[in-house]
Amino acid sequence: MKIINLISDMQKESLEARQANKTIGFVPTMGFLHEGHATLIERARKENDIVILSIFVNPLQFGPNEDFDAYPRDIERDERIARELGVDYLFYPTIQEMYKDDRTTLITVQKRVDVLCGKKRPGHFDGVATVVMKLFQITMPDKAYFGMKDAQQVAVIEGLISDYHLTVNLVRVNTIREEDGLAKSSRNVYLSPLERSVAPAIYQALKMGKQRLEQGDSILQTKELVESYITEKTGSEIDYVEIYSYPGLKEIQKPEDGDGLILAVAAKFSKARLIDNIVFSYT
Ligand code: PAJ
Repeated sequence: MKIINLISDMQKESLEARQANKTIGFVPTMGFLHEGHATLIERARKENDIVILSIFVNPLQFGPNEDFDAYPRDIERDERIARELGVDYLFYPTIQEMYKDDRTTLITVQKRVDVLCGKKRPGHFDGVATVVMKLFQITMPDKAYFGMKDAQQVAVIEGLISDYHLTVNLVRVNTIREEDGLAKSSRNVYLSPLERSVAPAIYQALKMGKQRLEQGDSILQTKELVESYITEKTGSEIDYVEIYSYPGLKEIQKPEDGDGLILAVAAKFSKARLIDNIVFSYT
């Protein structure tokens, strides 16, 4: 595995691979790798000749009061995991390398961001779209792998790809969970033992909500049920429980058969804000 810190070096390698007719699979991450990331990398490994993993904690997507400084980091461990998973290139730039020049243009996301985490974290998805656009130009992938754990991120990047006619294919990868159902996340380390033991109720609530919606409960009833279940079982503070169309992320009055839907939750524990969702086709 080659570790690359410079944009120009990464572009050179990517270009050479492309010229040699090799397919490139790209997995963008912020590191502190866990099995969710590992699944994306394994999938990329199976489907491509070359696998590029990026690790970059992107300051642009963190708000002023968010956890940029405290975001967990362990590059040595990440390197080891990446090697074991058969990554060919680890792209690991500094902030200075990624944002050295004053930008003359800005990517601002216009749709799919007035809800869920976009509403709660103003500017977050502008930061994500900007860095992902840069990373695509640097790594030149045929396929890029994103987890449905961050379903709004997937919807935003699908919009970006379509708006700018990017040739990369986004591969949606299902959320990887702990055995008890808790979605794997770098932020789970911030849960106290007690919080960790009750956090699986989030996914239970989501499954229950989907079932009740499909049995004919209204959107409002379903949201209330999910919210009260999570509050009661976990004691966390609900940031939101929402149901929207997916990937359009528009409000819906009454779902129809075949509609793509998302039921999404964000809940605040003492030191961690956890998000989870289920995306499904309503029947
Ligand atoms: P990060 O939070 O490190 O996540 C990297 C990728 O791993 C994302 O596509 C995310 O959805 C996926 N992922 C995380 N947990 C997962 C799980 N339990 N199951 C499946 N996939 C999971 O998302 C980001 O970084 C950043 O916003 C980034 C795209 C790198 C841009 O900075």
